[in-house]
Amino acid sequence: MTILIRGGTVVNADRVFRADVLCDGDKIIAVAENLAAPAGATVIDAGGQYVMPGGIDTHTHMNLPFMGTVTQDDFYTGTAAGLAGGTTTIMDFVIPAPQQNLIEAYHQWRGWAQKAAADYTFHVAITWWDDSVHRDMGTLVREHGVNSFKHFMAYKNAIMADDETLVKSFRRSLELGAIPTVHAENGELVYQLQQDLLKQGLTGPSSHPLSRPPAVEAEAANRAIAIANVLNTPVYIVHVSCAESLEAITRARAHGQRVYGEALAGHLVIDDSVYQSPDLEFAAGHVMSPPFRSKQHQTALWQGLQGGNLHTTATDHCTFCAAQKAAGKDDFTKIPNGCGGVEDRMSVVWDAGVNAGLLTPSEFVKVTSTNAAQIFNMYPRKGVIAAGADADVVVWDPEGSRTISARTQHARGGFNVFEGRTVRGIPSATVAAGKVVFQNGTLMAVEGAGRHIDRPAFKAASAR
Ligand code: URP
Ligand code: ZN
Ligand code: ZN
Ligand code: ZN
Repeated sequence: MTILIRGGTVVNADRVFRADVLCDGDKIIAVAENLAAPAGATVIDAGGQYVMPGGIDTHTHMNLPFMGTVTQDDFYTGTAAGLAGGTTTIMDFVIPAPQQNLIEAYHQWRGWAQKAAADYTFHVAITWWDDSVHRDMGTLVREHGVNSFKHFMAYKNAIMADDETLVKSFRRSLELGAIPTVHAENGELVYQLQQDLLKQGLTGPSSHPLSRPPAVEAEAANRAIAIANVLNTPVYIVHVSCAESLEAITRARAHGQRVYGEALAGHLVIDDSVYQSPDLEFAAGHVMSPPFRSKQHQTALWQGLQGGNLHTTATDHCTFCAAQKAAGKDDFTKIPNGCGGVEDRMSVVWDAGVNAGLLTPSEFVKVTSTNAAQIFNMYPRKGVIAAGADADVVVWDPEGSRTISARTQHARGGFNVFEGRTVRGIPSATVAAGKVVFQNGTLMAVEGAGRHIDRPAFKAASAR
C-alpha cells in the first residue's frame, strides 16, 4: 500500500516544516515538498493540518489480571481505541505473579497481545527475586527485545518489590543495558494508612487519596532516585503525580543524574475533587494510584513538561467497569485501581497544553512520542517523521473538536475520566504501519495487525 499525505505541515521534535509524506509498505520513504503521487497511491489531503509521528503511550495495561479481576480492554479493543486517538504504539507491562517464571509470564503476555491492532512492546515487572530472575532478565534483554524493567514500590502483599529486589534488579538492569522504571509509592505506608482509615470506618472511595498522600509518593521517588544514584543507573519514574516527586526528579537532574519522569494525561487535568462525589460509582471510577491530586500539582506537572524535567505523557490505561469497581463498595482498598484514557491522551494534552499556550507543537511531539522513542530505544524507527521511520503518522486537525464521552468512546469499561470535556485538536486520520486505520471518525482497526517492537539494549550486553 502506498499513501501520500499531501499539503500538511510536518511537526517533528526538532522543527516544523511544510512537506508531503510518502509511505510505502510499513515505512515512510520520502518527506519533501511537492511529491508526486505514485500510481494507485491513496492520497490524504492534509491541507491546513499538522502531520506528526503517531503517539506512543508509554504506560498501558491491556488484558491485565489485577486485584482479583481482569481489565475490560484487551489488546485489540485497547489498541484500536488508541488508534482512534492518534496513538500508534503502546508500551504495556508483563507483570509476573510473585514466584512466576519471567519467561513464562512474558510469553503469556505475548500471547494475549497477538490480537493487538497497533504496535506494542513490553516493560517487564520484577515482582520477586532469586537467581532465576537474574538469569531470565538477561534472556529477555538478549533474546526478546526487552530493555526496561518495572518495579512496583506499592501493592504490598501482591506485586510490591522490596529494597533488596530494587537494588538487585537495578544493578542487573545496568549490566544488561536496560533501564529500570518504578511506580513510586511507599507500599508499607499506604498499607498502614489504609488500615487506619478502615478502623475509623472510613471505607468509601474518598479515603483512597488519604491513604496515598503526596509524601508517600515522594518518599518512594526519592528512594528510587537514591538507589539509582548509588548504583549509577538511569531511572524512569512512571506516573509522576505530585510536585514533591517532580522536585525529587528536578533536583537529581540538576546534579547530573539521568532521571526521567512520565506524566499521565489524567493527572495533568483532573483534580482530587472527584473523590468527594456523592455518586460513589463516579468516585470509584476515578480510583487509581497514585490518585488525582489538588490543582497545584497539575500546575507543577505542566511546568515539569515545559522545563524538561518530565519527558513523556501516558495514560496508565487500565479499565474496569462499574461492576468490577463495586468489589470495593464496602472497602475502598478492594476497588480495582485503574482508569482509561488511551483514546484521549493526544487530544487532552494538545488541548490543555498547546491550545493553552503551555507547549509548542514540537514540544507536544516530544512528550507524546519522540522522548519515549529515545528513552526506550525505538528511535528513529518511532517518534519522527523521516524517511526510513515506521509509517506511523497522525494527521492532526487543530480546529477539529469533539466532546469526550463513554457513550461514544471505542474503549471498553463504560466510563471515562474525561467525560464531558470538549477538546480542540483531533486526529483526522491515523496511519499505522502504513495502513489508514482511522479517518474522519471511522475506525478501521484490524485485529492482529499490531506487531511486537523489539527494543535493543542500550549497549552491548557484557553480563552473563
Ligand atoms: O491504579 C493504577 N495505576 N492501576 C494500574 C497499575 C499501576 O499501578 O500502574
Ligand atoms: Zn522465548
Ligand atoms: Zn503504577
Ligand atoms: Zn500502570
